[in-house]
Amino acid sequence: MVEKGKATYDVKCQACHSTGPNRVVGPGWKGVTERRKPEWIMNMMLNIDVMLETDPEAQKGLEECLVRMPNQGLSKDQGREVLEFMRTL
Ligand code: HEC
Repeated sequence: MVEKGKATYDVKCQACHSTGPNRVVGPGWKGVTERRKPEWIMNMMLNIDVMLETDPEAQKGLEECLVRMPNQGLSKDQGREVLEFMRTL
């Protein structure tokens, strides 16, 4: 799962997210699974538009980054794989 998640990251997420602590367009992913609950991360990956409308933390992220994260069209399985990759960071 980690390998598949990394492959998805390389294609769909890397342009905006580093695996370190630094922000690119969106926040860096180092330690993200310690800062955020897994279900919150899954919602950000699968349902970003609803999150940006309703979730205060997602809205705060938008204020800080000044860019709306576009929906990346991941399947639920792909989301789970990326989450496992994130746990390694
Ligand atoms: C065009 C740039 C862009 C791409 C591509 C992108 N994101 Fe994002 N992402 C953002 C921005 C900007 C934010 C912060 C916005 C927010 O929190 O509302 C963000 C926030 C997030 C967060 C919350 C992080 C945190 O610490 O709060 C997660 C999780 C996330 N993205 C996952 C993904 C995944 C998984 C992919 C690839 C499948 C992806 N993103 C692709 C721009 C992008």
